[in-house]
Amino acid sequence: MIIIGGSSSQDLAAKVANELGVKAGALEVRRFPDGERYVRILSEVKGSSVAVIQSIHHTPDELLFEYLLLTDALKDLGAKKVVAFIPYFAYARQDERFKSGEALSFKTVTKLIECVGTDEIFTIDMHQHRVLKSSEVFKIPSHNLSAMRLIADYVQKHGKLEHPLVIGPDAEAEQWAKIAADRLHTDYDVFLKKRLGDAHVEVRPREANANGRDVLIVDDIISTGGTIVEAVRILQSQGVRRIQVACTHPILAPGALEKIKETGVQDVVATDTVPSPISHVSVAPLIAEHVKEIAD
Ligand code: R5P
Repeated sequence: MIIIGGSSSQDLAAKVANELGVKAGALEVRRFPDGERYVRILSEVKGSSVAVIQSIHHTPDELLFEYLLLTDALKDLGAKKVVAFIPYFAYARQDERFKSGEALSFKTVTKLIECVGTDEIFTIDMHQHRVLKSSEVFKIPSHNLSAMRLIADYVQKHGKLEHPLVIGPDAEAEQWAKIAADRLHTDYDVFLKKRLGDAHVEVRPREANANGRDVLIVDDIISTGGTIVEAVRILQSQGVRRIQVACTHPILAPGALEKIKETGVQDVVATDTVPSPISHVSVAPLIAEHVKEIAD
């Protein structure tokens, strides 16, 4: 199987290739003077299966379009199978028409990915709130992996927590809190969240009391940091001992990390699905494991 990283995931693809003891395939991506994207596959792909790794973050429209050009070209050049690894999958949050007339972006993006010939897709901790399984939207085989075990292992090894309570800041985060808590052999709970706007949320506790406990907060995404800040405030008002924050996708809008650190919480960690200053956990072993399974 040939591993090709799109321009957002070159480092990650190199790490995956390294895990598997192979060299990543080569790709040239540049822009024409008018802003159009140019994609050229420099490896021979005829008759081979190809794993394309392309996280779609920060400039999602550009990166998605690059993925479409790349996969269409791979198929046109005779690739036997294209398996997409899209660690951060943008547009998953617009899975419903919240106001009349809105585009169902999630559905449109999945259609585009399928129509260029993607044979199978892997995502990581994709935002699944109302759509609970990726197979509800994809017609091709789809798998949503979780980075939470890797995060829990990192926290166990490098964190300073003792028998932490794991907290998901909203009901959707229960799936991640459970995985992390199982891995750490500890208990978990979630808070309840109401979104008041793009950057404003209201969070309230459910049952857990963090008094005197160390807490690990886990979520899929940190964007503005508003959700984490609200969760931290509740925990602090309960008399928490120490807090470590972790997420899979550090989207980190400007000022997000500073906002979290202003609460007094210094320990914030994330994965490299989105490269960032806190991306200390690599999802490369997780992707490599699945590339290997497909190749075998
Ligand atoms: C939403 O439900 C997600 O799971 C995250 O909680 C959310 O995207 C975090 O966004 P922010 O950092 O802007 O509060």
